[in-house]
Amino acid sequence: MASFKGALIGCGFFARNHLHAWRGLEEAELVAVCDRDRDRAEQAAREFGIAAVYDDAEALFAGEKLDFVDIATSAPSHRPLVSQAVQHAQTVICQKPFAETLEDGQAMVEAARAAGATLIIHENFRWQKPFVTLKKMVDEGRIGPPQFARFSFRHGFDNYVNQPYLAEIERFTIMDVGLHLFDLARHFMGDVTRIACNSQRLNPKVRGEDAFTAMLVHETGTTTICDCSFRSVIDPDPFPRTLAWIEGEAGTLALATDGQLTLHTKDGRQVFAEAPAIPVWGEAPWHFVQDSVIRFQTHAIDVMAGRAAAQPSGADNLKTLTLALSAYDAAATGSTIHIDKGDTL
Ligand SMILES: NC(=O)c1ccc[n+]([C@@H]2O[C@H](COP(=O)([O-])OP(=O)(O)OC[C@H]3O[C@@H](n4cnc5c(N)ncnc54)[C@H](O)[C@@H]3O)[C@@H](O)[C@H]2O)c1
Repeated sequence: MASFKGALIGCGFFARNHLHAWRGLEEAELVAVCDRDRDRAEQAAREFGIAAVYDDAEALFAGEKLDFVDIATSAPSHRPLVSQAVQHAQTVICQKPFAETLEDGQAMVEAARAAGATLIIHENFRWQKPFVTLKKMVDEGRIGPPQFARFSFRHGFDNYVNQPYLAEIERFTIMDVGLHLFDLARHFMGDVTRIACNSQRLNPKVRGEDAFTAMLVHETGTTTICDCSFRSVIDPDPFPRTLAWIEGEAGTLALATDGQLTLHTKDGRQVFAEAPAIPVWGEAPWHFVQDSVIRFQTHAIDVMAGRAAAQPSGADNLKTLTLALSAYDAAATGSTIHIDKGDTL
């Protein structure tokens, strides 16, 4: 018997990964699915053997007793859904982008606090297998105190087939992939005091920026470059994998797109194979992401069971959201934006 009973709201493209991952985890069970497109919810329930189907969140909350709610809808629906969900479940998980404005993000964090609920953001890049190992090695001091980092996500994959809305949104790659890269930057290098950014619209068919380069300066005085392009010509195409480079006083850790992690020190170099296994329900090249969803949801269970603190919590993710919003300001004005500690409070 699963310890935690939950509902998934939003049964679209990415939710399939949530559905597969929940099905494989023993301590949690989805007892209901909800999508305003009822056909999608019914199809998910049929395929994954889930008992109850809803096309309205209020009806879901009235009809089910839930330990957790997993929200996999797109950003505009998050504030109303999270604000209701925290009234009905102890744990609420919300996909990124958590919010489109700081005001919405703050309102959700406050709603969770007032209800005594835990809000976890589905930020899965830090849960990708190579990044879990990278973090462990940095924390063990294998390269000494970090001085410089780079996180890079560049490809030419046609994302618009699976996620057509990406071509329509005014704020595109900074809110989509930028949030992931900024979370990695904060995870490895600490909080940020200033940010500069240049954004580009390379594909005339998309509405928002499909490339950007940002420079972040951390409280420690160290620097991170985050760069992203959805319009690069690379063979083989590295989508959907992230490159990383972290230099410390005593060495460098370099993550290649095939999951190969190289540790450079004065004694030479060591190479570690960190590509994840392909889940039985998964496929390459998506397995880096699919495996991270399993790891993230395993972590969410650990949080529910009191074995871990949320990584990242809603409150923490407000700082990442602040960086993304500041990146737009920096790109629009050509200036460096200073981030006050109080900006997210
Ligand atoms: N973490 C990642 O790696 C990753 C990858 C892809 C997408 N995402 C995120 O996942 C979210 C969903 O993306 P997607 O590509 O699956 O979108 P999608 O449009 O395919 O699916 C969203 C679903 O939510 C439903 N929905 C919207 N509002 C609703 C509401 N109020 N009540 C019930 N159902 C509602 C829609 O009908 C749709 O079926 C986005 O925020 C996206 O950024 C995350």
